[in-house]
Amino acid sequence: MSKNLFTPGPLNTSATVKQAMLHDLGSRDEAFIRIVAEIRAELLSLGQVSHQTGFEAIPMQGSGTFGIESVIGSTVHREGKLLVIINGAYGERILKIAQRLGIETESLRCPENDIPDLDLLHETLGDDGDITDVAVVHCETSSGVLNPVEKIGAIVHEFGRNYIVDAMSSFGGIPLHLERAHIDFLISSSNKCIEGVPGFSFVIARRENLLSARDHARSVSLDLFAQWEALERSGQFRFTPPTHTLLAFRQALKELAEEGGIPARHKRYQRQHATLLAGMRKIGFEEHVPVDLQSPIITTFRYPEDPSFQFEEFYEQLAERGHVIYPGKLTEHECFRVGNIGRLPEDAIPNLLSAIREVLAAMRVHLPG
Ligand SMILES: Cc1ncc(COP(=O)(O)O)c(C=O)c1O
Repeated sequence: MSKNLFTPGPLNTSATVKQAMLHDLGSRDEAFIRIVAEIRAELLSLGQVSHQTGFEAIPMQGSGTFGIESVIGSTVHREGKLLVIINGAYGERILKIAQRLGIETESLRCPENDIPDLDLLHETLGDDGDITDVAVVHCETSSGVLNPVEKIGAIVHEFGRNYIVDAMSSFGGIPLHLERAHIDFLISSSNKCIEGVPGFSFVIARRENLLSARDHARSVSLDLFAQWEALERSGQFRFTPPTHTLLAFRQALKELAEEGGIPARHKRYQRQHATLLAGMRKIGFEEHVPVDLQSPIITTFRYPEDPSFQFEEFYEQLAERGHVIYPGKLTEHECFRVGNIGRLPEDAIPNLLSAIREVLAAMRVHLPG
């Protein structure tokens, strides 16, 4: 029944991650409190930061978007102004969240298959002293572009602004040193590169900036500071925690360490991405993002020109064969996406490529490859 998920999540998980959920623990149970503490400590170490260097890890119930909303809604001050750097749907979502919360915003847009103009960012921050916070997506999963968060962080730091990074689809799969990138708040979730199951997001926060979020939240359930305070005080979540998801996540963290940590996982994703690119090019597909701007997480391919290509049929026929790809999310071009994160079998990409050839032949689609 399980399929290979070439998507940005939820993803395939190992049998042992799924098995880890076969226990019922109470949320006030000593063992559970210890597990939450272990997870929080491990998340800091994945970000190459620690308590001593002034960082805190805060799990938050809900999917990744809930984590983003908790950061934006809790940490941008009432009189603050948020600059959102946008080159895709997830950047647009941050803007939408801020606008819905009544936060003053500014946006800096660039094409969906390009990275932001750093000179323009410099100029914008220099010109607009009202901007207090800057947000950007690390891997813009809608296109696969990997944004230069370290270079952006250096500019944001130069101007002394608060820096928020949505690293949903990259954290755990691409090395990132939070302090060197000058990140104040990073958000990711349980079911992406750490290869756990869905159920919670988490925030890695610079303590000094977190402390200044006290009483700023625009929501009760998504109050980041209150969530952190409760975890510090009692080791417990404020509201019902996703106990089974946390058990799976602890196992997923263990398996990440056994694999060799983030550098080894990064290499696995790079290897799979390279196999995918080579195979798709050979078939005759074209990528939408220049190769030097691509992440090793997810790749966007343009629809072939042959009118016999119908995405819905292509998708269905691949799914029937056990391969789930992902529709496009771009506004400028008709594309589909293939992700290569998650616990995919070693031969998953070669098998997908064979199935793609088979389906194209069945659909009588001709490509130049
Ligand atoms: C970069 C990025 N931000 C935000 C999200 C939203 O996460 P969720 O669907 O878990 O709310 C995603 C989901 O894929 C993502 O890739």
